[in-house]
Amino acid sequence: MSPFLLFALMLFSQFMAGFNTPLPPPIYGDHVSILSIDGGGIKGIIPATVLVYLDKALKAKDPTTSLADYFDVISGTSTGGLMTLMLTAPSSPGSNQPLFTPSEVVQFYKENGPDIFKLRPLWDPIRCPKYDGVFLRNKARELLKKTRLNQTLTNVVITSFDEQKIYPVIFSSFKLKTQTYLNALLSDIGLATSAAPTFFPSHEFQNDGVKFDLIDGAMAANNPALVAASEVIQHSGDKEILMLSLGTGIPKPKEKLGGIFDLGCQAAWLPFHIDVISEVAFSTDMTHYYLATIFPGLLPDENYLRIEEYNLPPYMNEMDNAKPRNMKNLEKVGKGLLTQKVKRMKVNTFQPFELDQTNAQALDRLAEKLFAERQLRLKRKSMEEGGRPFIETI
Ligand SMILES: *[C@@H]1O[C@H](CO)[C@@H](O)[C@H](O)[C@H]1NC(C)=O
Repeated sequence: MSPFLLFALMLFSQFMAGFNTPLPPPIYGDHVSILSIDGGGIKGIIPATVLVYLDKALKAKDPTTSLADYFDVISGTSTGGLMTLMLTAPSSPGSNQPLFTPSEVVQFYKENGPDIFKLRPLWDPIRCPKYDGVFLRNKARELLKKTRLNQTLTNVVITSFDEQKIYPVIFSSFKLKTQTYLNALLSDIGLATSAAPTFFPSHEFQNDGVKFDLIDGAMAANNPALVAASEVIQHSGDKEILMLSLGTGIPKPKEKLGGIFDLGCQAAWLPFHIDVISEVAFSTDMTHYYLATIFPGLLPDENYLRIEEYNLPPYMNEMDNAKPRNMKNLEKVGKGLLTQKVKRMKVNTFQPFELDQTNAQALDRLAEKLFAERQLRLKRKSMEEGGRPFIETI
């Protein structure tokens, strides 16, 4: 091919890519893709750091795209819910660029973590919840403005729990057609999913005449992967699922529930919310079990990547330790995960075992798959529209 033609083709494909077409729906493709992010407060730096790597791998293939251009669904609980909103809210009304890239998310945590988790002054007679939540509330309002659930760049699924009505509330783009009252402000959704009991006040608001009194989605599902998969299966039929599920780190021995409640405030909160607690299943491990057994055909092994630090030093497990040194260490844990071998959970024993590839290699392969899926859908869609055949990126 002549250099000129090559140049012209490259220019053209860049030009096409420059339109940054939204991802056509799964019906045009072979898979439904899900990104799922666990809860864990400031430990959200860990999955955010992993996403920085995936984002770079995808941008290397097409610099105009963002994560929302590859995933049909991004789902999150608590800190993962906030991250979901940062990655899917449009940067301005009508824009197809997200408010935050993953590396900006990491920056956001590092800059604002200390203010979000700032202890009440000593003279404040109120001791519980541990934080007043004012900074986070103002920040969420300032960043997410008037954007609503129906405006996200891709489908989102965010969990929360109504502490008055005692049931989970799932803010899912898929539910908007039938449950219009879920079309809340993204800021309200973010504040609801991250209102960790004993750490932050519950988040009360009204939308479309419906009253909500919501707390952290961890009360329903700290690992939202299963919720996201259920939403997809209910609404997108039986396409094969491609899933990336990110944890926020757990320490090796016992103490698995340690990070969820603040000890000081727990005694004051628990007696009044014992009914909530009885609904709780902190079932991160059970999620693997369900995923593996219920969806064996829809979620083949090679389509499922879970990245989790199973050996977090216990002193790093607090969800509200936003000291600069700790945040730096959390970022190191995220980077360290990239060079670790991929771990799978044995369904029968709940013991992780290692595969013969690193998480970074697995993410590179995932990026290939996501990119191929997107190209395939764009191609089939343009063929269906009878337009000019889609030009493959060279
Ligand atoms: C989203 O919902 C708002 C409020 O109901 C509505 O005014 C707006 O037109 C909707 N936008 C889209 C893109 O559907």
